[in-house]
This record gives sequence, C-alpha cells and structure tokens, in this order.
Amino acid sequence: MAVVLIKAVFFFQICLIFANLTAPSPEDADCGLNFTSSPYKPSGECIAIDQEIIHEWDSFPTTRCCQNALNFFTQALAKQAIQQGNLFLHKDQWGRCASGSFEHQPSVSIDKCGLNSLYQQSSQCSTLSLTSILQDHNFKDVRDNCSSFTSSNFDHACKDCTSAIKSARDHFLHQFNANDNETERAICIVAVVISVTTTKLNDPSLIDDFFRCLPGLNTLDKSSEDYIKIKYSLAKALVAIVLAIFVMMMAIFLVKYVTRNARAGRKLLLSKPKMFASCPGLYTFSKAEIENAINNIDEKKFLGRGSAGKVFKGVLPSGQVVAIKQIYRSNTSDSFSRELENLSRVRHPNLVCLFGCCIENGEQYLVYEYCCAGNLAQHLLRKERVLSWEQRVKILRDCALALRYLHSYIDGFIVHRDIKLTNILLTEDLEAKLSDFGLAKMLGMEESKVFTDVRGTIGYMDPEYMSNAKLTCASDVYSFGIVALQVLSGQKVIELDLDARDQLTRKAKDVSMGKRELKEFEDPQLKGEVNSVDFESILQIAVLCVAKSSKGRPTIEVVVEEMEKVLKNTLSDKKAAEQSALPVLKRSHSVGHVIPV
Ligand SMILES: *[C@@H]1O[C@H](CO)[C@@H](O)[C@H](O)[C@H]1NC(C)=O
Ligand SMILES: *[C@@H]1O[C@H](CO)[C@@H](O)[C@H](O)[C@H]1NC(C)=O
Ligand SMILES: *[C@@H]1O[C@H](CO)[C@@H](O)[C@H](O)[C@H]1NC(C)=O
Ligand SMILES: *[C@@H]1O[C@H](CO)[C@@H](O)[C@H](O)[C@H]1NC(C)=O
Repeated sequence: MAVVLIKAVFFFQICLIFANLTAPSPEDADCGLNFTSSPYKPSGECIAIDQEIIHEWDSFPTTRCCQNALNFFTQALAKQAIQQGNLFLHKDQWGRCASGSFEHQPSVSIDKCGLNSLYQQSSQCSTLSLTSILQDHNFKDVRDNCSSFTSSNFDHACKDCTSAIKSARDHFLHQFNANDNETERAICIVAVVISVTTTKLNDPSLIDDFFRCLPGLNTLDKSSEDYIKIKYSLAKALVAIVLAIFVMMMAIFLVKYVTRNARAGRKLLLSKPKMFASCPGLYTFSKAEIENAINNIDEKKFLGRGSAGKVFKGVLPSGQVVAIKQIYRSNTSDSFSRELENLSRVRHPNLVCLFGCCIENGEQYLVYEYCCAGNLAQHLLRKERVLSWEQRVKILRDCALALRYLHSYIDGFIVHRDIKLTNILLTEDLEAKLSDFGLAKMLGMEESKVFTDVRGTIGYMDPEYMSNAKLTCASDVYSFGIVALQVLSGQKVIELDLDARDQLTRKAKDVSMGKRELKEFEDPQLKGEVNSVDFESILQIAVLCVAKSSKGRPTIEVVVEEMEKVLKNTLSDKKAAEQSALPVLKRSHSVGHVIPV
C-alpha cells in the first residue's frame, strides 16, 4: 500500500484544461505584468469543493486548485524581472494584480490563493534583485541541476533540481537569519523559482519540464489532519483514529523517504478504505455526483461511443466541464482498479487528463478532461475551417511528445496501442491530446483479442504485430506514421480498410522516392499553403515510421527530434512571410470588407 501511495503521489502532476484562456482581465492594463506569451491555463484540480491544503513549492498554504496561478504569475514575474531587475512588483502594483480573477476559473486569484504577500519589501527575500541571486555562488548549483530534464531520467533530474532549489532557499534564509520565519521561507523559495525561470524563458519546452518538476517541492499541510479528524462522526471516530495513526506513520515514512511531490496522499488514506482500493491516486466520485454532472447540461450530453464505453459531457459543481466515460461491464473491478492506478500516474500535457473515477454497484465511470474541439478526424473532414499547415505540424509534434512520454515511462514503457485520428482530441486552441490510452489493457483484454475487439483500428495496426501479436513501441510508431500521412494528405477514413491504408503508404513511398510529385500527396484543402521543405521532411519520417518491419522504423525519440525541427522551421518561415506580407494582407482584408465580392 505504501508503495502504491508513494507512486501515486510521485507522479501526480498538473493537468491542464481548456487551452484558450485569457489573462485575468482587469490586470492587463495596470498591473505591470505581460501575460500575452503564456496565458493562464486553469488547473483541472478545482473539482472537489472541499479542497485540501497544500504548500505549493513548500511555500504558502493554498489549494491544488490554485497551483496554476502560482505557475502563471511566476512566469510573468520572471519576464518582468529580466526587464526591471526586481523579482517582485511594488505593493500597489501587486495589489492591482490581486483584484483580478480568471475568466474561466473565478475561484482562482491572487487573493483567493493567498499569494498577497508576494510583493517587494514584504520580506527580506523579496528585496533581493535578480542579478544578486543569479550571481550568488549558491545559485550555480540550481542553475546546473535544473538545466535539463531529459525524458529518460526525468525523475532523477527533477530530484536534483528540487533539492538544489531548497538548499539555495535555505542559504538565503540563513543569510537573513530567518530560518524559522514562515513568510520568509515562502517568499524565498518563490524568489529562487522565479530566478530559475528567467534562465529558461526562451525555451518553452524547458519551461514545461521545469514546471512539471516543481510539484516535487510541494508539501502537505500538517494541521489539516486535525480538521479532518473532527469531521468524522462519533460512530466513525474509532476508524478515524486508527487511520490517523496510520496517516502519521505514513507521514513519517513520506518525510523520510519522499522529498518529492506529495499530492493526493492524505485524502486517499482518510477516505473509506473501500474507496482507496477503488480509486487510487484519483478523486473518487460518487454515483450521485456523476449523475448530477451529466444532468447539469442542457445541450447534447452524449459525446460518442468508444471501444470501452459511452462518453457523456458533464459539468462539475465547480463549473468545470468534463467528459465522463461509462465503462461497459468489464470482467473484474479488481483489474479495473489495478489498471486505473497505472493510468492515474501517467500525466502529460498532451495526454487527456484523467481526473477521477466512480465505482458503485458494479457501475464504473471515468472522468476525463473535456476537449471541446473534438477529435482530429472531425477536423480533417471539416470544410469550413481547414486546419492550417502550422496547426497540422504542431498537432503531430504534440502527439509525438505524448508518445515519447509513454514510451520512455519510468516504470517500463507504455504502448498506447490505439493511435488514430479519432483518438487525438483537440482543445479550443487546437492543442492535441491523446486519449483512450491503455484502455484496452485496462479492461483486461488479452492482446490477441485487441485485434478482433477494438473496432476501427485495423487500418492503423502494425503489420508485424498483426502477424506475430507481439506488441512493442514500434507499433505505436507505425500508427503515428499512418496518422502523419493522413494529416499531410487529408485522407480521413481508413479505419477498417487495409486497402486504403496500403494505397496511402504506397503513394507516400512513391512520392518520397521521387517517383511522383509532392503535390500529388498534398491535402487539396490546404490550397498549396504549405511549407514544402517541411512537408517533405514529415513525409520522409512518416514513410520510415510505416516500414513493414519494426527494425526499419525510427524510435519516437528520433521522430520527436525531427518534428521539433520541422515545427521550428515552419513557424519561423511563417513569421518571416507574415512580416513581409502584412501590408498586402491588411489592404486586401479591408477591401474585402468594404466591397463584398
Ligand atoms: C477564445 O475564446 C473566446 C470565446 O470564448 C474567443 O472570443 C476568443 O477569440 C478565443 N481566443 C483565441 C485566441 O482563440
Ligand atoms: C508582451 O509580450 C509580447 C510577447 O512576449 C510582446 O509582443 C508585447 O509587445 C508585450 N506587451 C507589452 C505591453 O509589453
Ligand atoms: C517574518 O518575517 C516578516 C518579514 O520580514 C516579518 O514581518 C515578520 O514579523 C516575521 N515573523 C516572525 C514571527 O518573526
Ligand atoms: C546537484 O546535483 C548533483 C548531482 O546529481 C548532486 O550531487 C547535488 O547534491 C545537487 N545539488 C544540490 C544543491 O542539491
């Protein structure tokens, strides 16, 4: 059990939901921070009304719901620190920032999250300047240890980074002779984090990694244990005490062995043991909560039917929109919860986030983040709003990132098994998120059965796997290759059709070998608006991915590298083109408005 808990705690990260969001509106004008390049992403953790208290980054007590606010403001503060030299804003400026709240997540603001004292002069640490921290010899360790988080040993790298941050904080506390002052501790660590952030601002993927690591600094609130004990009724008191003792033992255990992220721990232990068994590492919904969420919606509730169950749209009491999957009656809830435990630990911005589950009276539900823009197949079908070239490249890059995460997963690789257009969901700003991963496995299907049971995937299936039924990461790479070819060519439906797939791959091979023209493969809907160098690069890598033998295929690592290069190139070309074409575009745009043709 301890191992289960620690693992759940270890791997919990921030789930991001709704991509298109605006900064807190009142702040923009006068709060002195610039939010344009990294807008606020609401946390998916505002689910429970009764939020437990954590010390994010071992800093101020707050709730999980608030964690993205601190991430968000830290990045904005880092940006201004580079320009102004001060880590924090003046008191009045910060006060103006505090008055705003987030459009899509009104329960989050500086005020509500308890971050009011993060201003200059509020403490000794807050008066440190950026240069004085960057030049401090104790900061050198932080800079080194937080400089890269390669995917293969992320955990290791992250641990070195967080421990370096803590020791830098302690050094400053010592210098100010403020070791025991809670306010100082809180502000000092934020100051160090802001300083690290300034060194990474021009590398978004490094920023992502860094902020993915930071929950490793979180600590639970010690005092909330008492609060929960009181909440138990007399009848349950005995159970509560036993559990509380257990919690304390666990806490000692945790403090001793885990200097890491401590999410979701206490809540699990103190809820009913039955629930702990059923929903490890996740929020456990009651059936009533699920029903309420589904019935909270006036519009269409039914989203679709997957291989594992029906999917509904729902709204939680916090206002958060979610997708709720009702699992078809599966064999044993034992294997369900075992697999669920694995799933709950697998988190990445480009994987659809699993928030919680519900197991009651033999019924099983999974609650996921909701991706409002539907799936990639719908977008390739769509005539009125065609995906642009840049959007396509970014979607493919995002999928590759998610796959790399799964394939290099620390506890042994995870094969998605079901990469296809309909399993790639899109958020409002078209950020791609893989869904349904590991579900076939989760339901306890045998691998040989996957072939016959999971409909609509044969067209994506690795021919080698089809013949020997041995599933490896290379099978996902194959499916990714098919998806990439579809995205390039705009060809949508090959679900069950091996002929269509073979036609597609044959044509791609011909084009890649120069037997046919590149234009022949291009999605006509793009109307030639592609970057042909990048188009060819993706085509080449996709053709390698769909090699008949897994030995000929690149690893996802190589695919990601290539996709990163292509995306960078596409974006910089687009920028250059825009700059030179801007006046022309503007003119034609206004003409179009005045004289509709
Ligand atoms: C985000 O969504 C709002 C509507 O909710 C829309 O007005 C706005 O243009 C969108 N912004 C972007 C960048 O897509
Ligand atoms: C905010 O940042 C963006 C990009 O980082 C920049 O283009 C914009 O000019 C900045 N706005 C202000 C008001 O400084
Ligand atoms: C902690 O530090 C802050 C800021 O320097 C100060 O205002 C406060 O009085 C200190 N608290 C204690 C208990 O010393
Ligand atoms: C930085 O990383 C090194 C190597 O892993 C480690 O030995 C060292 O303790 C870390 N520094 C700090 C301050 O934690």
